[in-house]
Amino acid sequence: MEYGYSRKDVIALMNDIITTACKFVTSSIGRKILVALTGACLLLFLVGHLAGNMTIYGGNPGAGEPSWIDAYATGLHTMPAWLLMAIRLGLLAILLVHVVLTLVLKYENVTARTHYQKEGTLKATLSSRTMVLTGVMIFCFLVFHLWQLTVNGDPHDCYNHIIAAFSNGWCSLFYIVAICCLFMHVRHGVQSILQTLGLATRKVRPLYNLVAVLFAIVVCGGFISIPLAVLTGILK
Ligand code: HEM
Repeated sequence: MEYGYSRKDVIALMNDIITTACKFVTSSIGRKILVALTGACLLLFLVGHLAGNMTIYGGNPGAGEPSWIDAYATGLHTMPAWLLMAIRLGLLAILLVHVVLTLVLKYENVTARTHYQKEGTLKATLSSRTMVLTGVMIFCFLVFHLWQLTVNGDPHDCYNHIIAAFSNGWCSLFYIVAICCLFMHVRHGVQSILQTLGLATRKVRPLYNLVAVLFAIVVCGGFISIPLAVLTGILK
């Protein structure tokens, strides 16, 4: 079939697309948009992960019956191995793009800062000033979390594994501190995403601050409730 495009045209078009993509990633605003979009994907993952984790409150019926969370975790692992791997690699790629571009933006920001701008940062919130610190803490938490519950976990015995992990006070404390960091990161992250994507005008900005705080409270409160419920004996 004749489409009216020569091979040369297609190559030129591909070149244009690649050049535009490179220009986008190397521009400051392009990087900000990518950080916002990857951040939004990570937030979506958090919401899904929290929803799955909440099935722990279905309890453990015992007598050979699987708990809700065991059924949920086993269900996840029944998807084709290639699909699970593709989802995990996709998540990892999104996380890496988010971390690397954030660090590049931070570096550019620090090196380009004038005395006047430095004074301006005094007004920034604690959450915004500690984004890199809370990000590093979340990264360390993730390494431990994946080692503990994914590498050494068993989807058929997820409930007991989580109860055993959080029965250790130090482990619970570490989770609670890490999730508090996540709270600060998510709170500022939601605001930044809305601002970068142009969704926050000066008039509605206070409303978005409220949305960001409420979102962070619901998500992080949900995660923190699990170690707290184990420590207080609500979940056993
Ligand atoms: C009390 C809080 C949490 C509990 C009980 C929990 C539980 C779990 C469990 C059981 C798994 C293993 C799933 C499986 O492969 O069978 C898992 C995986 C994972 N969790 Fe969490 N999680 C918690 C908080 C978090 C937080 C705050 C984050 C992100 C900052 C997170 C990120 C992940 C990731 C990325 C995985 C790997 C997903 C995969 O297996 O592909 N989790 N979590």
